[in-house]
Amino acid sequence: YWSVDNFSGSEENLQLIKEAALWITKGEVVAFPTETVYGLGANALDESAVKRIFEAKGRPSDNPLIVHISQIDQLDELVLEVPEVAKQLMEHFWPGPLTLIFKKKEAVAPSVTAGLDTVAVRMPDHPVARKLLDAAGVPVAAPSANLSGKPSPTTAMHVYHDLKGRIKGIVDGGQTGVGLESTVLDCQAAIPVLYRPGGVTKEDLEAVIGKVKVDPSLLSDDQTPLSPGMKYTHYSPAGTLYLVRDQDKISELVTEAKRDGKRVGVLTTVEGKGRYEEADVVVLCGSNKDLATVANGLYDSLRKFDEQEAEVIFSEVFSYEGLGIAIMNRLEKAAGGQSPL
Ligand code: TXA
Ligand code: MG
Repeated sequence: YWSVDNFSGSEENLQLIKEAALWITKGEVVAFPTETVYGLGANALDESAVKRIFEAKGRPSDNPLIVHISQIDQLDELVLEVPEVAKQLMEHFWPGPLTLIFKKKEAVAPSVTAGLDTVAVRMPDHPVARKLLDAAGVPVAAPSANLSGKPSPTTAMHVYHDLKGRIKGIVDGGQTGVGLESTVLDCQAAIPVLYRPGGVTKEDLEAVIGKVKVDPSLLSDDQTPLSPGMKYTHYSPAGTLYLVRDQDKISELVTEAKRDGKRVGVLTTVEGKGRYEEADVVVLCGSNKDLATVANGLYDSLRKFDEQEAEVIFSEVFSYEGLGIAIMNRLEKAAGGQSPL
């Protein structure tokens, strides 16, 4: 465990990061902060190191990982070609929460891509992640550092809770910023396809490259997602989560569930303070007036229901615009794929 919370770039901080990076070069797995969520990193060119990631997380082997780099020229050893659209996007959004899919080169360890001929790459925008990648000197494959199926970690404590004893160490860089995973975009086709909504919104992308398609599975329940990871139930608290549009309806459902003897949770925002007094666990997640605050607190909020042993959870819904699309995508997955009532 290496604490560089309040990273100052001091010599002491850099030494800790170098130590963690050394373990990565030795084939171990180490968790580290990025601006989105904590990642669980291993050398992307070392097949046995990458396999350890899948073991530690209990991740299905058909779900490929994102490769993290800190320098553009690292792309050369990973990908066959960089389409023009990708170049434009990299210029605007890297470093940042945008993952791009490329045709892969042989050097990428086979498990990273789960047998696909494409590889997902991103350049994170977090000082600790950047220093760690520089120090490791190798591209680092890293999924979110949670147990498979659980909410992604936005603090080192979340990682510790899920993975203690299963990994070499955690670099603690404090709470992450965006709070949701990166946007995943495939730009092989003439019109790029959004596989996973995230910190960079569809509107942000379209402002730079024009039209972007959305994977049809994000809009309808009966389509198979184009990105393997999107088919799994994810981010789920232990209790059963329901998304409910109408706030009065939530109050009714809380009363009913209480009558059935359940321990009941409600997910709302600061605007909902005092609205659900009958519930056992009320979590206020950010403010409706600024969806970035909701994104930032979402996974921690979902974990709070587990800590407080809520058996049934009712969540308010958010607008399906801008960052709201990513928030609702994660909430729907946490609710087992169910659309709001
Ligand atoms: O913000 C993030 O992206 C975080 C931090 C740690 O960087 N990482 C992350 O990784 O969210 P993970 O493994 O939880 O999600 C990776 C997603 C999955 O949905 C996976 O299926 C998709 O990216 N993916 C990876 N490689 C792909 C490929 N070649 N084609 C399509 N989808 C791919
Ligand atoms: Mg994940």
